[in-house]
Amino acid sequence: MKVAVSNQALTEIAVDVLILPLTEGTPAPAEVNEALDGLCAQVVGADFKGEMGETVLLYTAGKLPARKVLLLGLGKAEKVTNRSLRRAAGIGARAARRSGGRSIAFAQPQSVALAPAEAARFITEGVLHGLYRLPSWKTERKEQPEVEAVQILGGDEVAAGVEWGRAVAEGVNLARGLAWTPGNHMTATMLAERAVLMCRECGIEVTVYDRKGCEELGLGLLLAVNQGSREEPRFIVMRYKGAGGQGPWLGLVGKGLTFDSGGISIKPTDGMWNMKMDMGGAAAVIGALRAIARLKIRADVMGVIPATDNMPDGGSYKPGDVIAGLSGKTVEIRSTDAEGRLILADGLAYAARNGCQKIITASTLTGAANIALGPIRFGLVANDDAWEDEVYEAAEAAGERGWRLPHDEEYYDLLKSPIADMINGTRNRAAGTVAGGLFLMRHVGNTPCVHMDIAALAWKSPGDEYEDEGATGAGTRTFVEAARRFAEGSH
Ligand code: BES
Ligand code: MN
Ligand code: ZN
Repeated sequence: MKVAVSNQALTEIAVDVLILPLTEGTPAPAEVNEALDGLCAQVVGADFKGEMGETVLLYTAGKLPARKVLLLGLGKAEKVTNRSLRRAAGIGARAARRSGGRSIAFAQPQSVALAPAEAARFITEGVLHGLYRLPSWKTERKEQPEVEAVQILGGDEVAAGVEWGRAVAEGVNLARGLAWTPGNHMTATMLAERAVLMCRECGIEVTVYDRKGCEELGLGLLLAVNQGSREEPRFIVMRYKGAGGQGPWLGLVGKGLTFDSGGISIKPTDGMWNMKMDMGGAAAVIGALRAIARLKIRADVMGVIPATDNMPDGGSYKPGDVIAGLSGKTVEIRSTDAEGRLILADGLAYAARNGCQKIITASTLTGAANIALGPIRFGLVANDDAWEDEVYEAAEAAGERGWRLPHDEEYYDLLKSPIADMINGTRNRAAGTVAGGLFLMRHVGNTPCVHMDIAALAWKSPGDEYEDEGATGAGTRTFVEAARRFAEGSH
């Protein structure tokens, strides 16, 4: 899809659909209203209130070079945020596409608190997010209209915003496609291939360790989870050298669980199919690194992905087993379904031992994150308040939302084992998301580390006007923004 900045006037631009974003109580631009003989004034305030996500399509009947005008509601001006603007833009772009529009132009929103470049960035993100179609394996597909060209209206001042928004959205969409892909089309081996493909395209150094390589590295926890699988594990390390490759590195670590059956502690049947998305954290790392490279962010960023599925088998690891991983600490398995923290512990230990100064990790780690926070904010757990604050702020700036969960010493007691350094956790235990996060912190030594539990945000239920049902790419944007800030801090 072509995305361009254009400073053509609203009355001159020749596209299928011209989208006019309007806050509540704001009239349409006067020149458009005049060209349409007062049609906008009749509609705005009557059939169109400007509520968030509201759309009305007007036919211009040859009175404007644009064939149609789409009025798009942004809600109350004082309530417009980067997120709501992105959402509205996605809804508008989808409405334009539904009406058969192949070329669309997006006018600058008036009377919103965001600077023009910032607004353009989030509009671009929303348009590309909304128009993205997830991969499909249907053999009979009906012809669907596609938008081929998008113009974001504005002067030179919005160009950088559009560029940024585009890179981020493409990273997010890459992550969505990966996490949506079925487990049989996205084994650990295939996930590694996709990571390598992205790295080649973007000039990122990448190393993939197979089972033997994992053994040599000492990734005992990843290997334990992989024990019941017919698929080999993969351990993927990507190095983006945006600041020369000498470090300090920002570590991004993602859970690459390509299908989570629960293993011997098997999950109930209902909804198990959805556990193909259990590599959403890994997908976010891959998507973010692509965006970081495209944006030439001046930081050294290391992406680390432990990848495997979690399957029941005669050879599987079992509850009661005691296993040591790369950090050297021993873990008593209480549930083979708490596998994400095991593979991540090895990924985190690797990052901490290989030059990462700070680490952020994303994973669909606990169902309890949905109980605590619902699908609105992801849970943050950390071992360092200052770094946690920075990641919290990065999420907000990127149009994502996290929430800081506590890490008081006493919470570590939830992980006590009578036989090993820690247990990996059991279902229905108190503070499930905190316990999962703190388990991770026990494998990074003193390296500041923030964990994002995206379990409740990685998947969108059907019936949303903004995006198709399925993987959302949650976490990707926070990673990119954190890398931008890390780059500023390390200069
Ligand atoms: N992948 C799941 C968590 C999950 C649940 C992600 C729902 C997305 C939606 C994870 O591996 C898991 O099974 N967690 C257990 C942990 C428990 C056994 C300590 C859980 O949440 O029940
Ligand atoms: Mn599990
Ligand atoms: Zn899992």
